[in-house]
Order: sequence, then structure tokens, then C-alpha cells
Amino acid sequence: MDSLGLFILLMLLCFQWTTAPAAEEVTWTYTGLVGQSEWSQYFPDCGGTSQSPVDVVTTQTKYDPSLIPLTPLGYSQHGNKPFTLYNNGHTAVIDLPDWMGLGGLPWLFTAVQMHLHWGSGGPSHGGSEHTINGLSADAELHVVHYNSELYPNMSTAMTQSDGLAVLGILIVTGEETNLAFNNILHYLSRIRHADQKVSIPAFDIQSLFPKDLGRYYRYNGSLTTPPCYQSVIWTLFNERVQISKAQLLKMETILYTSKVEDPVRMLLQDNYRATQLLNHRVVFASFTAESGKELSSGEVTAIVIGVMCGCVGLAVIIRFIVKTIRFFTLLHRESVAVNSSTSSWDVLPSNRPAPMSRTKGPEKAKDKKQDMALNSTPKAEKKEEPSPSPQTEP
Ligand SMILES: *[C@@H]1O[C@H](CO)[C@@H](O)[C@H](O)[C@H]1NC(C)=O
Ligand SMILES: *[C@@H]1O[C@H](CO)[C@@H](O)[C@H](O)[C@H]1NC(C)=O
Repeated sequence: MDSLGLFILLMLLCFQWTTAPAAEEVTWTYTGLVGQSEWSQYFPDCGGTSQSPVDVVTTQTKYDPSLIPLTPLGYSQHGNKPFTLYNNGHTAVIDLPDWMGLGGLPWLFTAVQMHLHWGSGGPSHGGSEHTINGLSADAELHVVHYNSELYPNMSTAMTQSDGLAVLGILIVTGEETNLAFNNILHYLSRIRHADQKVSIPAFDIQSLFPKDLGRYYRYNGSLTTPPCYQSVIWTLFNERVQISKAQLLKMETILYTSKVEDPVRMLLQDNYRATQLLNHRVVFASFTAESGKELSSGEVTAIVIGVMCGCVGLAVIIRFIVKTIRFFTLLHRESVAVNSSTSSWDVLPSNRPAPMSRTKGPEKAKDKKQDMALNSTPKAEKKEEPSPSPQTEP
């Protein structure tokens, strides 16, 4: 018993002498004592060379035609079982059922959870983790999946280089309310304090996604929060989703990072990590710069004018062709009429056209056109087809 007591005492002393507490026990934050720049002291991977988020410089991305559109699996078949929404002190998280997954990557990935990152101060004040050409969006949704083809669960997969696949969806502010996001935002008031949980009605997770799942950026990176494991195959969609200003303000101002029993309430804001160096990593694009480029108003004007000129030109050409065809058709009909009815004209010599009738062709054609204009119903025109000779008679 004495030796056991001594052992326990030694263990306690060892624990006390350890200067840095165990990583799991450190309460990290975005600013302050254990802020982003200190993360790597407690979580070594946060100081790695393949960290996330990054700034995507579109001119430096590399087009990869093998990047096929991603297919969310089972996202719309949410079932009747409610989802769990909770405040973990860093963000609002929704646990996802394991029948939801992701196709279109080299392995099948199973959904784990999704969460949000946001800023403070309303629209155009940052909030997204990834940036594109140095520009932030107002918030960002992350949907986390693990490689269920190679690993048995999330905790094993999250330490492997090909273990996780995270979808990044940039969120911007506009006029319209995004009803899909209300499936989350409506319930934030029930989890204002850290560690609070609420059951929310299941909903179609894919309704939160942009429509275009074919255009995205792909790179190898990390979790954007400690322990920052470099295990994530990142997909950042090119199309952004839009929420209203009121929705953004709700996201930014309703949650606390402090627990319900904490004496001081601390707002949960600016929970986004600064962009990290690429360090020779390549960001791939599933689309080419030209096809993904948004058109300036000048380019749109040029295209509109070009298309209009093209249409007018085409109309002129078609009119010319139609006129020419009509002219030659009439000319042909007339010569047929002249040749085929000689016998009847022989009977009525006074009606026989003069031999010079061919040279009169164009004038006749004009007369014909006027006739046709008068009898302008297409039926009349068709009826005339089989027996052209009487019509050409003066
Ligand atoms: C994950 O899988 C590993 C290996 O099979 C196992 O040891 C571990 O307990 C599992 N963890 C969880 C959280 O299920
Ligand atoms: C990510 O890393 C793996 C393994 O090193 C590599 O095969 C793959 O091409 C990388 N993907 C990207 C998008 O860089």
C-alpha cells in the first residue's frame, strides 16, 4: 500500500511539474492567451506546412479535368430523426447521420458534422476562413466527412493524410432571406451558452449548398481548429450562397463562447482562422479560369451588341437567300408553264405569250409576289403548287 501511495504522489508531482498542460485540456481561442498564434505551442500540427485555411489566388490555380462534380449522398433523405445542434464554445455544430456521405472523391466519405465560421460587424467585415484573391466572404459553412472506405471511424481517420474530406461553402450577404439557413438560425437562441444542446427538426442539408457542385477548388490541408491535423482533402465551392443581413447579424451576435455558469458573458464572434501559407502546395480547380470568370458590364455590352449585329446580318442574308430562291423558282415555273402548255395555247393562239417572256421574268416575279401577298394564307399558297400554269396566266 505504501508503494502505491508513493507512486500516486510521484504521479501527482510529475503532473504538477509539467509546465504545459495536456493539449486536450487547453481551452484555445481565436484571440488572447491561447490565440491562433499560440496554437502551435500546444498543438504542434498547427505549426505544420500544410495548414488551412488558405487564400485561393485564382490565377495560380491549376485546372484539373479529372475533378468531377461532387455528389452528396442521402443529404436530402434526412428521415424523421431530429438533428442535434450544439454550442461547443467555438461554433454551432450539427451532428450528421452516418447514412449521409459524399461521392466523387477517390474513396467514399461518410458525413460527421457541419459547423459555421463567422465574423463581427455585419456584411463585408470578414468572417470566412478561406479567401479568394484576398477577399473574404461574410461566413463559411464546413461539412466534415471521414474516409469510411479506409478507416473505421472519425477519430482514427482524422490523423491520416487522406482521412477527411471537408466541403467549404462561402456565405455572402444579400437582400433575400435564405430559408434553408433558418433551419439552423431559428434555434441558435436555444444554445446561446457553450455546452448547450438542442434537438432540431431534420431538414435537407443539401438545401444549404450552392446549386453548382461542379466548380470548385481542391487542395490538401488541415482542420482549421486545434489540433489542426493535416488530414483534410479540401473542396471549396466556387459558387457562394447568400443569406440576408438580418440572418448574418443573428449568427454573429446570438451565441456566447462562455458557459451558462460563467460570471462574464463572452460573445462568440470572429471564430475564423487567418489564412495560412501554401508552402508549395498547388490549389487545383475543377474548371478553367475563362469559363469560371464573371463577365464585366463592358464585356456583357460587347456581347449583346455583337449578338445583335450577328442577328441583323443573319436576317439580311436569309432575306437575300429567300428572295433569290423565289426568283429562280418563279423563273423555273414560268419556263415549265411555257413548255408544257404549248398545245393548249396552240388552240388559243391569241393568248400565247410572246417569245420574249423569259426576259420579262423579274417583272413577272414581282407581280407574283404581290398576288401571293394578297392571298397570304399559307394554304392558298400550297394549293397553288401543283398547278402553277393557270396562275402565271395573265
Ligand atoms: C475507432 O476505431 C479504432 C480502431 O478500430 C478503435 O480503437 C477506437 O476505439 C474507435 N473509436 C471510436 C470513437 O469509436
Ligand atoms: C494530396 O496528397 C496526396 C498524397 O500526397 C496526393 O496524391 C494528391 O494528389 C494531393 N492532392 C492535391 C489536391 O494536392
